[in-house]
Amino acid sequence: MSDHMQIKPKILYYGTPVLLLSTLNEDGSTNISPLSSSWALGPYIILGLGIGGKAFENLNRNPECVINLPAQHLWEQVEKLAPLTGKHPVPEMKQRMGFRYCKAKFSEAGFTPQRSAVVRPERIWECPLQIEARVKAIRVPSYSGEIVIVETESICVHASKEILTSEGYIDPTKWKPLIYNFRHYFGLGLPMGKTFRAEV
Ligand SMILES: Cc1cc2nc3c(=O)[nH]c(=O)nc-3n(C[C@H](O)[C@H](O)[C@H](O)COP(=O)(O)O)c2cc1C
Repeated sequence: MSDHMQIKPKILYYGTPVLLLSTLNEDGSTNISPLSSSWALGPYIILGLGIGGKAFENLNRNPECVINLPAQHLWEQVEKLAPLTGKHPVPEMKQRMGFRYCKAKFSEAGFTPQRSAVVRPERIWECPLQIEARVKAIRVPSYSGEIVIVETESICVHASKEILTSEGYIDPTKWKPLIYNFRHYFGLGLPMGKTFRAEV
C-alpha cells in the first residue's frame, strides 16, 4: 500500500467488537449501554466510557457489570438501543445528538433478562458470551473531560453451548462477534490462520 493521505476523521472506530454493558440502576433494575471501546488482557477488560451516560453514573454507585457480547445476527436489536439513554433528564449534549430516555431497554430491544451468578446487573440471554465483572478502577484522564477509562476484572464467564467445542473451549469458527466498523455493523470474514498458542 502506498499513496497515503493525511486525513482528519471525526471518529476512529476502526473495527472492534460491540458489547452490551449491563449496569445497575438506582432502583435495582438493569440498564444496557452499547459500547465498542474495549480490550482484554488476561482477566482484565478495559472499557472507554463517556461521562454523560447512565453507565458511568451506575458504575460509580455500584462497581459491577456484565459485559454481554452479541453475535453478528443481533445487530438490529443492538441498533434499537443506539438512540437511547438511561439518563433522566437526557443531558443537553445527548439531546442535541437525538438521544431519548428509556429505562426498559430489555423490552425496547427485544432482549431477555437473565439473572447473573455473582453480580446484581442482569445478563442478556440472547448474547452467546456474557462476562460478569467487577470494576477495579475508574480513571479520569487529565487530557479529556468527556471520557473515563474503566478497568474491570472478569469474575464469571458464561458461554452458550452453541459456540463451544466438546472440550469446553470457545470455538472461533462458531463464535461470530458483531464488529463496529466506522459506525457500520459487520460480521467476521473467512478465517485466515491461527497463532501458535491457539487452543482449538
Ligand atoms: C455500536 C455502538 C458503540 C458505542 N460505543 C461506545 C463506547 O465505546 N463508549 C461510550 O461511552 N459510548 C458508546 N456508544 C454510545 C452509547 O451507547 C450511548 O452514549 C448510550 O446513550 C449509552 O447509554 P446510557 O446513557 O444508558 O449508558 C456506542 C453506541 C453504539 C450504538
